[in-house]
Amino acid sequence: MKNIMKKQKRILTSDRPTGKLHLGHYVGSLKNRVELQNEYETFIMSADVQALTDNFDNPQKVRDNVLEVTMDNLAVGLDPNKVTFFIQSQIPEIAELTVYFMNLVTLARLQRNPTVKDEMQQKGFGNEIPVGFLSYPISQAADILFLKADLVPVGNDQSPMIEQTREIARRFNSLYGHVFDEPEGKFGEVARLVGTDGQAKMSKSLNNAIFLADPKDVVEQKVMNMYTDPSRLHFTDPGNVEGNPLFIYLDAFGSKEDQVQINDYKERYQKGKVGDIEVKQYLANILNRFLNPIRKRRAIYEQQPEVVGKILKEGTKKARMEAKKTLLEVKKAMKLDYFK
Ligand code: TRP
Repeated sequence: MKNIMKKQKRILTSDRPTGKLHLGHYVGSLKNRVELQNEYETFIMSADVQALTDNFDNPQKVRDNVLEVTMDNLAVGLDPNKVTFFIQSQIPEIAELTVYFMNLVTLARLQRNPTVKDEMQQKGFGNEIPVGFLSYPISQAADILFLKADLVPVGNDQSPMIEQTREIARRFNSLYGHVFDEPEGKFGEVARLVGTDGQAKMSKSLNNAIFLADPKDVVEQKVMNMYTDPSRLHFTDPGNVEGNPLFIYLDAFGSKEDQVQINDYKERYQKGKVGDIEVKQYLANILNRFLNPIRKRRAIYEQQPEVVGKILKEGTKKARMEAKKTLLEVKKAMKLDYFK
């Protein structure tokens, strides 16, 4: 029976453990992870090696956040009995594969990666770009390909990484024979969630994020301080709904049943017939309703971090077995299989 069953397709995705996950992570990737966990054999990696590429001076932060980020994933409803959680640094085969992939990518190609470009600017590296940082997309390709993942649920800022991974797979196959299929990206419905300050991207480093672990009153406070329509001074002024974070969040987190109310607010907002505060209170309630079950599940794991540690340890063992299998194939293809 078993061998006539088609092999379940695989998901691999990952977060950098540099801080807790926020609503932007949820709409970009976590939501898809939860929805697809039954259909795909799912692996979630804590990308501590990648986190170190721009936090090499703060290993404790990375270490602490491995647990936090794993708890966020569990809190949104990923089932540890189905999903494999593992830690990047504990799979040395990923580093090994990265070295082989380095031959397949030019410096110019790395410098063209738009996400890396943005990040370099944000971090102000200037001419002092660490090689590890510039080349992290190669290592990310190794994260995805060592596991032979079919689908990679990520925010759309990661699409250049998927493209680069596909190029590397293609190049490898053409040089050494077919080992890798090209993975697909799976992007969230909301392409990129704006920050509470109206900036293009919600991000912990921009200090404009609502975290999945934020308590009720913190969410209320963040929503009350949100950027809305700057040209609207009185609630009788007609307001802009388009591009207004208030309404973007309502669209992203309101349920079907909320639609009538949301549309009513949109109309009245545009006519100057409702104040920001009323809409903000409504949004805070919707967000807290969404976050409540997440907080509850998180609290259970927070009380027993050793359970999360065990989930990671067992998952890492399983991922490592897959890594060893792939590396045998890779080394054979590359004529590096000396001592059989
Ligand atoms: N670069 C991703 C981020 O910043 C994290 C990541 C590392 C990742 N390795 C990955 C995502 C492999 C998907 C697949 O969020």
